[in-house]
Amino acid sequence: MEMGAGKGNTAKWLRQTHGAFILTSDINPKAVEIQEKNGLLGVVSDARKIQIDDWNGISFYLEYFPLIYMEGLLCNQKGKDINNVITSAWSFLSPGGHLLIADIRNAASANTAFSNLENHQQLIHDWYKRYKKNQEAFNLLGLKLPPYHFMVFKPGEYKYREWGSPQDLVRGFNDPEVFERIARHLGPNSIKKIIRKLPGLEIVEELDEVFYSRTGPLNGWVLHMVKGPRYQLYPWYKDMTKNQRQNYQDIRRFESRANPRYWDDYRNRLVKNFNQARINKDLTKDIIQSLNFN
Ligand SMILES: C[S@@+](CC[C@H](N)C(=O)[O-])C[C@H]1O[C@@H](n2cnc3c(N)ncnc32)[C@H](O)[C@@H]1O
Repeated sequence: MEMGAGKGNTAKWLRQTHGAFILTSDINPKAVEIQEKNGLLGVVSDARKIQIDDWNGISFYLEYFPLIYMEGLLCNQKGKDINNVITSAWSFLSPGGHLLIADIRNAASANTAFSNLENHQQLIHDWYKRYKKNQEAFNLLGLKLPPYHFMVFKPGEYKYREWGSPQDLVRGFNDPEVFERIARHLGPNSIKKIIRKLPGLEIVEELDEVFYSRTGPLNGWVLHMVKGPRYQLYPWYKDMTKNQRQNYQDIRRFESRANPRYWDDYRNRLVKNFNQARINKDLTKDIIQSLNFN
């Protein structure tokens, strides 16, 4: 599954080159339309929540996906949303599953791959000019934002204004036709702190990368994590491995899902498992509230 897949270019490439079957998701319905035009299976979904394909309010895709990745999604988030996106990915990841997070840090942070580029000094210089102009624009707008935040304008003819003067940025910000969002470059260290609190998730690789955007090379990083071998949330299979689950003769398999007691039991166990996993409280509350069986 890809979270915040945008147009789905990476998923399309993975399908064409590796035959991968990927569920792409994005909060923006226009992006999902493009994913579908690209022949992908796309869903509109908010990555900050447990929200992929609910049926009767229960997500059957929890602990389901063997690989989840997100590229440039965290730089769209702020504050506790970052934690919620990562926790949500953890909830969807199957036992033994892989989680890959790729994002962009501030241009001058150490990265051998990036500093091997011949023109990296110039790129850093250009980005610092852009950060500075954005800070001036935020000041003019009375917004208090820490360093490395910048405005992103909607795709199309206004894009070039992102690199304009602080006044250009203020005008763009005030025009709903032009303004898309505020983003910011972030390093992997703040993300690692969140990951260490998620049960069973282990960082197995950390890479420096160069990503290429419309505006040229960017200073990027990748974190690769693997989840422990046992189910942690799944009501009937908690603490089992995938193999144990397969061999498990579950009496409930033959019970009717039309029986409300089935769902009461499901819900109670799921809530208990979420509480036991001690993941962030906000998300647990959201999940419990979204388990609406009526
Ligand atoms: C910088 S783009 C990256 C797109 C794509 N991953 C790529 O690498 O080309 C960020 C994407 O995340 C999506 N996004 C932002 N917040 C989101 C959220 N809370 N849930 C799902 N998608 C979100 C945006 O709509 C946008 O398509």
